[in-house]
Amino acid sequence: MGGHIKAVHREHCKNEEKGSVCRFGLERAKKVLKYHESFPEYAATPLADLKNLAAYLGISSLRVKDESYRFGLNAFKVLGGSYCVGSYIAGKLKIDIDEMSFGKLVGDEVRKKLGELTFVTATDGNHGRGIAWIADKFGHRSVVYMPKGSAKERLDNIRALGAKACITDMNYDEAVRFANKQAEENGWVFVQDTAWEGYEKIPGRIMEGYTTMAYEAHMQLKGEKPTHIFLQAGVGAMAGAVAGFFADLYKGNDKPIITVVEPDKADCNFRTAKADDGMIHTVTGDMNTIMAGLACGEPCVIGWNDAGVKT
Ligand SMILES: Cc1ncc(COP(=O)(O)O)c(C=O)c1O
Repeated sequence: MGGHIKAVHREHCKNEEKGSVCRFGLERAKKVLKYHESFPEYAATPLADLKNLAAYLGISSLRVKDESYRFGLNAFKVLGGSYCVGSYIAGKLKIDIDEMSFGKLVGDEVRKKLGELTFVTATDGNHGRGIAWIADKFGHRSVVYMPKGSAKERLDNIRALGAKACITDMNYDEAVRFANKQAEENGWVFVQDTAWEGYEKIPGRIMEGYTTMAYEAHMQLKGEKPTHIFLQAGVGAMAGAVAGFFADLYKGNDKPIITVVEPDKADCNFRTAKADDGMIHTVTGDMNTIMAGLACGEPCVIGWNDAGVKT
């Protein structure tokens, strides 16, 4: 049974000043990688070379970044959670994040200075699992709200890391607002993997965290320039960060063609790109999709802001 694919094409930003993406570029990515390398669990995930599929498709090569190996958590998302929690604690201790490391964050000393913190988020699974993992590593607490329809297995995985977690009757975007409210009411730290006007600092750090995946892939390609990059999007934070990394790395016509893929029923970034009217466009309702993690109706504004879109 065939489905259909709708697509919209946008040119690379010709104005390098306006389209500056150095925030997610090579220099920043090197520093973020240094932070991640300080974790005992850190290892670059494989960039699998799918030779047979490439031959079948008649293309010279096809690589897939296999994030199932990431810190044993089965997804890249922890890269954002680990970096934003580290940045938050560094900020509280007045230490430059570039000087921060796993060794400085674990142990009783930080807890003695800051007390036990509670990090709260809304997630369909992978981001919350990353937050639960990092909070547990650093000896803090986490609370995770999941949207309706979230898999019980995902809830169990998050609880197994010590988080207080539940599946709500809200969709993802409503659960995000609920988590934010809980943070305000309880004095918790809200660590969400999407941004909106006025809430950009933490999600900005989360996006910087994702550059580790892009930087590893770049090194694994050993100088080979990718012609096309395919990225899946929920809110588009990962896609924005990885696109930013490669758009910063390659100049002019060398920039790869980047394709961002969303579920048909949660196509908020597609709608925003298609409208091309300088505004963010959203989707509401249940957004039923088998693509867990991509059922998000409100685009992360950081990538779009940098492209000059109002929010
Ligand atoms: C495996 C995977 N890919 C993509 C996404 C979507 O990322 P973003 O919301 O940054 O677009 C998620 C979100 O949880 C995810 O778990």
